[in-house]
Amino acid sequence: MGYSYQTASITQVKADVVVVCIHQNEALYNREMKALAAHFGAPVATLLSSGDFKAKEGETALLYLDAGAKARRLMLAGLGKKPTDTNTALERYRRAAGTAAMRARSIKASTVALALPSTEDNAADVALALTEGSGLGLYQFDKHKSKSEDDSHRVGQLTIFSDDRKLQRIGTEAVHKGEILIAATTLARDLANAPGNEIYPETLAQAAVEAGKRSGFSVKVMTERQIARLGMGGIIGVAKGSAHPPRFIILEYGRKSKNPIVLIGKGVTFDTGGISLKPSANMSEMKMDMSGAAAVIGAFQAVARLALPVHIIGLIPAVENMPSGTSTRPGDILRHYNGKTSEVDNTDAEGRLILADALAYAERYHPAAVIDLATLTGACVVALGHFATGMMSNDDALMEKLKASGERTYERVWPLPLFDEYENLIKSDVADVKNTGGRWAGAITAAWFLKKFIGDYPWVHLDIAGTAILEEHGAYTQKGASGVCVRLLADFLAHWKR
Ligand code: BES
Ligand code: MN
Ligand code: ZN
Repeated sequence: MGYSYQTASITQVKADVVVVCIHQNEALYNREMKALAAHFGAPVATLLSSGDFKAKEGETALLYLDAGAKARRLMLAGLGKKPTDTNTALERYRRAAGTAAMRARSIKASTVALALPSTEDNAADVALALTEGSGLGLYQFDKHKSKSEDDSHRVGQLTIFSDDRKLQRIGTEAVHKGEILIAATTLARDLANAPGNEIYPETLAQAAVEAGKRSGFSVKVMTERQIARLGMGGIIGVAKGSAHPPRFIILEYGRKSKNPIVLIGKGVTFDTGGISLKPSANMSEMKMDMSGAAAVIGAFQAVARLALPVHIIGLIPAVENMPSGTSTRPGDILRHYNGKTSEVDNTDAEGRLILADALAYAERYHPAAVIDLATLTGACVVALGHFATGMMSNDDALMEKLKASGERTYERVWPLPLFDEYENLIKSDVADVKNTGGRWAGAITAAWFLKKFIGDYPWVHLDIAGTAILEEHGAYTQKGASGVCVRLLADFLAHWKR
């Protein structure tokens, strides 16, 4: 897919479909529609008087223009009523652009141009939102499908345009930034959507190495022997049942500093549950149990290609959780990197066992902040559904920063408490801690387990079980892997001041 920005008027721009986003508020609606009618006359005027198109969210109208116009098709995309909150208003542009781009593809358009409205004072943000929404909306995981005439059509070029010459520079920059964020999110989606027979610890590590070579960050991969020698008993314990050996992947980007930011991603390439086997219904979703790792790799690609002035370390414990004669059993006790022991009450609570080693290992970097991302608990999906990532932390200031990034990118995060009382639920009779906490507050007891292994640093845990794995498509997301938190982390790091 090619992306470009262009200074052109709506009658000059050349594309198979030209998209214009319209607000539903009466005053705005009339103003925006009348401006279009002035350009195109009859087709728009007729639509306006018919009242057929109301500019509701998700609504589109397709008009066919006279032979005189450069573009033959004009698509109107509804933004709904203009919200007072800037971030919500931007999200409407993402969604409208996503919906419009998908409809343009369905009518086999190869080139699509989206108008940057002259009515908004934050043109750079709107241009970025239009780029993100259309680019992410056109994502498809179809590389394993034999081509059929109908659904193999691809849009080849997306253009954002405005007739305001003064916007040329910021428009071009916004589209360039959008392209980087889309590519990074696409990488995360592709890695997570890839089946378990394609992405397992060794190939996940390989993918990280390749992304590093392409975009400019270093990747070191530890083998099973090295992991065992380091004393990472959680990673070794979970990986034991699999034919695929584990990997511990270390990413690094940026000019060296005393206090880097560490990003940790859960890399369970497939989670059967192990001996505590999961039911078979929907188990295939667990190929996406490395979505945290995918987000970290995607974020590194984005940050490197944006050349952000930060020093970041990425840690990815990568394992496959399988049942076999060599698997860890319920009741087994594991010894982690920092010497603490855990009782494996349930082999399906494997994510926290591997993250424990990574969180303890992170201490050696004296990090300014540590953020871990994990499809950790079904309980978090029960609590927040698919529209918010669960956030648990020991540092309010760090949480505020992530909350702000979440609102700007609309990859929203929401806090859950780590009150002391919850700690009692993971007490073990035989080890330092137990890997389950009973029926209630499963997202919190999982985070409390992690908290037992952190060092002396500000830490945020993001439970992305609901936001990384989607059951149905959205305006610019598809069923399956969402690639969530790539844009969140890129925004967070862009705002980080050392
Ligand atoms: N990977 C799962 C969590 C998950 C479930 C992610 C559904 C996305 C969708 C995790 O390893 C797991 O199995 N957690 C258990 C923990 C329990 C055994 C304490 C869970 O949530 O049921
Ligand atoms: Mn599990
Ligand atoms: Zn899991």
